[in-house]
Amino acid sequence: MIYALQVELTRKDLDNIRRKITKQNVVFSDKRFLDSLFLPSNIIGRKNEAEQFLAHIESARHGLVVPLVSVYGRSGSGKSTLIKFVCQNITDIASFAFVNLRKSKTIFGCANLILSELGAALLKSAEGLNKVVDKIGESIENTLALENKKLFLLVMDEYDVIFSDVRGKPSDFVYKLLTLEENLREKGLMLCIITISNNALIDYDLDDRVKSRMGNSEVFFAPYSKDNVLGILHDRADKAFSKKVDDEVLQYCAELSSSDHGDARRALDLLRLSGELCDGKKIQESMDIVQKVPAPYHNIAFEVVLTYLLFTERNVPTAKQHKPESTPTVTRFEVQSESYQIQTLSYLHTLKT
Ligand SMILES: Nc1ncnc2c1ncn2[C@@H]1O[C@H](COP(=O)(O)OP(=O)(O)O)[C@@H](O)[C@H]1O
Ligand SMILES: [Mg+2]
Repeated sequence: MIYALQVELTRKDLDNIRRKITKQNVVFSDKRFLDSLFLPSNIIGRKNEAEQFLAHIESARHGLVVPLVSVYGRSGSGKSTLIKFVCQNITDIASFAFVNLRKSKTIFGCANLILSELGAALLKSAEGLNKVVDKIGESIENTLALENKKLFLLVMDEYDVIFSDVRGKPSDFVYKLLTLEENLREKGLMLCIITISNNALIDYDLDDRVKSRMGNSEVFFAPYSKDNVLGILHDRADKAFSKKVDDEVLQYCAELSSSDHGDARRALDLLRLSGELCDGKKIQESMDIVQKVPAPYHNIAFEVVLTYLLFTERNVPTAKQHKPESTPTVTRFEVQSESYQIQTLSYLHTLKT
């Protein structure tokens, strides 16, 4: 029998790997600015959306807020960033909790996530959803009493998750939260439920009893234009890279990430990935990398490598001409864009080594 030779990983190998990674990161001065979870201290544009959102909240000063605001728009349009930014800056009138429901797969899990964000202990599923919602109410009351405020903003990001719980009842969950809002109102407290999703909440499959109670307060985030994306990229590139990034690179990233719909997350990822690849490879080698990438990953590989080429080569039109006719278009970023990109990136890195 022939045994495969076991290859040892030595200390020297580790040192080499670390050196390689350091080299990959040499272009960055502070990569945090390219992290999609990074909350910028300055929001580029989006004044109209901030105004629409604030109009709903500020009416609390006159004694009443709408029970629910549905914030919606396509991915990368700045919804999470803007709403978090606003909530963090209006603590003079409101307490808030910002919960990303994507961390859970069931409605019960989502309710528990809210509870844990409010600093309360998690409940077991045997205790039932009603109990969790009651606890959420208690925690909100406690927080408001402690902070001496009357208004609580419960922001549930990626709210569409609740509609993928096949055994749960999304309508019941929304109904229970709206009932909680009414109970608090009877006690002289205000709760505004804010949902963030890709489509307007009213367009999801909810019972009429829920739809009529939740009203139709909406804030729509239109996809960014190429110029909007460029503005965001300029701001971040100045902070994230150790050298000034060529305007052409940013223009190119903005163009690619606006080809389907203006997606700031995709643009920032693209800039980061191409920066990571930018460690001195020349144009032909990079094209070889793309050719080796399996077909499903071809398109993003192209985008990343082309952007990277712009860092290292001045020959942009030539690089663009290399783009194959058969490159699939659109929709590729719409589903699970992050895992898709991560897989592609690891492919690219494997091929590079
Ligand atoms: N107007 C903006 N100003 C600064 N950065 C932004 C802006 N809009 C989006 N971004 C950045 O783009 C990325 C995606 O934004 P995000 O708010 O997560 O989009 P969404 O929630 O609509 O999918 C984040 O890294 C965010 O910091
Ligand atoms: Mg978001």
